[in-house]
Amino acid sequence: MPDSYRRPTAQLRADGSLRHLLTLEELPVQVIRSLLERSEHYARPFAQPAARSDLLAGRTVAIMFAEPSTRTRVSFELASRRLGADVVNIEVQLSSRLKGESVPDTVATLESMHVDAFVLRDVDPSVPDLVSSSVAEHISVLSGGAGSHSHPTQGLLDALTVRQHKGRIEGLRIAIVGDIRHSRVARSSWHAFAALGAEEIRIVAPRGLMPADDEFARCTRHTSLESGIADCDVVMVLRIQKERMTAASIPDEVSYFTEWGLTAARLRSAKQDAIVLHPQPMNRGVEIASDVADGPQSVIRDQVRNGVAVRMAVLEATLLRGRR
Ligand code: NCD
Repeated sequence: MPDSYRRPTAQLRADGSLRHLLTLEELPVQVIRSLLERSEHYARPFAQPAARSDLLAGRTVAIMFAEPSTRTRVSFELASRRLGADVVNIEVQLSSRLKGESVPDTVATLESMHVDAFVLRDVDPSVPDLVSSSVAEHISVLSGGAGSHSHPTQGLLDALTVRQHKGRIEGLRIAIVGDIRHSRVARSSWHAFAALGAEEIRIVAPRGLMPADDEFARCTRHTSLESGIADCDVVMVLRIQKERMTAASIPDEVSYFTEWGLTAARLRSAKQDAIVLHPQPMNRGVEIASDVADGPQSVIRDQVRNGVAVRMAVLEATLLRGRR
């Protein structure tokens, strides 16, 4: 269930440029397209050195994550450094929040130290929005994941990865499988795929992990894995997000894999050239079998690689028009 959540503050400046990235919802599709174009510019094949520039030299990015993260935090940090910015990482668990300091007070402290952008992840989905409405005008706020509500850079990197492998999003049949109810990734990737013209987006989940009926407009709903992924071009698998569940509602992992694990045999009901995505962290043998995760149809490593390129594009788009 998405947590209670206020409408985002305006993400665009008066001149139409991107100031904050809080959610893909309501973002004009041309902004999504131009972020993907710039991401392509920064994406490099695995064997080549990473793209670099000094476009953001002299800017400072503060990364404040209050929930665990490996890929998102590291890729925001690498993206900032590869554009020449300074980076500070605030371990919220070790910060003055433990002494009772509020998020706005921590942010105000860092503003005084000339931070130009805040990258925020919080279990409370309203935190990035709240901070964006209080910072000085030249400062940008980027969401690194807001509760189970949204994860906009993940939505962009998923769209980029699909586009690279399939050449387009238009006309594709895409299945999102697993714990959709608690997934911010499902919500943001759905927004990206829908905005970019996917023909059909299916949400495929056991009844207990389905989102509320008024969410995921125009998606078709399936409660069986095989029929849900049948003839799909893209299968995106999600982790069971136990941290957002009560102990009693956490499914048993062995029986979940028996019914819902994506195995090579099950994947055969998707199109022969279907690609498999997973935002990670993966629980092998729970929602996905290792031979699928590491197999020829998996593009999971490309998602991670694209994560840095997308975050470079987002930092460039938001910070270049900020303070000069
Ligand atoms: C996801 C997240 O944190 O929402 N991971 C990520 O950012 N790549 C997915 C998850 O935790 O399952």
